[in-house]
Parts: sequence; structure tokens; C-alpha cells
Amino acid sequence: MSASEPGGLETGVTRRTVLGTSAGMAAATIVAPHLRANAQPLPTPSETGTTLRLSMSVNGSAVALDVDSRASLLDLLRERVGITGPKKGCDHGQCGACTIHLDGRPVVACLTLAAKADGRAITTIEGLATGETLHPMQSAFIDHDALQCGYCTPGQIMSAVACVQQGRATSPDNIREFMSGNICRCGAYAGIVAAIETVAAETREG
Ligand code: FES
Ligand code: FES
Repeated sequence: MSASEPGGLETGVTRRTVLGTSAGMAAATIVAPHLRANAQPLPTPSETGTTLRLSMSVNGSAVALDVDSRASLLDLLRERVGITGPKKGCDHGQCGACTIHLDGRPVVACLTLAAKADGRAITTIEGLATGETLHPMQSAFIDHDALQCGYCTPGQIMSAVACVQQGRATSPDNIREFMSGNICRCGAYAGIVAAIETVAAETREG
């Protein structure tokens, strides 16, 4: 039986026709090209990663291990070396929770290939204290209540140390600018800026 469109126009199309046509189109779509007559076979997918032997210093200890060339430095540290201070927040370079120092400069470990750390020195939050004595920035964060849940804190402190070391902690605005890549969902920013100002002042006074 024919169907009619709004306005009574006969289309000659029935529900059975539509369903039959759709099924036929779907069947044509799902037949993989390499199964069609005369089609060339597709190349066999292959893994593109290779295994690299890497050596580096992590918080002063020599580390050598075989690593997939595609691994991030954050995954290497957390899952292979057991250094869990750097946190995985976004894994996209947008929150700063994974901030570490690579040869003394702050980097987001989630966007850094592990291979780039070969032969270099890594410092994480675990490497800041000297024995039982906290780094001044760690103490300042405690003194200024610069944290609540603490998830962002390792990355905040690593960036804060770099902020002072690079002479960028010259005003609250400059501190906020330098620290803008480190997100704190708890909103502990006032304490963080105060902690950095304190350490910067102590550093200037020697
Ligand atoms: Fe690396 Fe967010 S986890 S920047
Ligand atoms: Fe909770 Fe910063 S202290 S996210």
C-alpha cells in the first residue's frame, strides 16, 4: 500500500520499502572494503611504540628502566618509579597538579614525554625536604593554610618554588600571573600567594 505525505501527495513509498532500503544501505555500509571483490587487502595494523632504555636522576637517586616511547613522564613517575606526589588532575596540561622540576625548571609531567627526561634531573615534591626538615615553601604553605584537600598542593608548591627561584615573586599580581597554570578547586589562592610572598621576602633578606 502506498503512503501519502502531508497534503495527500502519493509517494509510492511504504514503511516496508523504507525499512528494506535502510537495511540494504546498512548492509552495504558494513561490508568492509577489503572483503569486496577486487579490493586490495588493508595493511596489518602494527604498534608504533618502541621500547627505550632511559636513565635519569629522580630526587637524587639514579633510575634506569625500559620505557614505552609513548609514555608520559607523569605515568613513568607514578606507575613505574612509585613517585606519587605529582598528581594526575586533567592529564591535558591544564591544571598544574603534575608540576615537577626538570633540570630545575617547572614542567607539567603529563605533557612531557618520559623519553625527554633521559639523562636529566627530576625533582618532585618528595625531593624538596632535607631529611625531616621541610622546604621553606612547604612550611609557608602550612603556616598560611594554603591548602584544603591538598590535591593540587604538590604542583602548587613546585611552581611556587620556581616562582621565587626565578625572581618572579615581586608582587601579588606577578605571583598570580606566574602561578596561573596551577588550578586550586578549593580556592586556596589567598593563602598560596601569601605563602609565596613570605618565602620571597625571606629569600631577599638572605
Ligand atoms: Fe598535568 Fe593537569 S595533570 S596539567
Ligand atoms: Fe584542594 Fe587545591 S587544596 S584543589
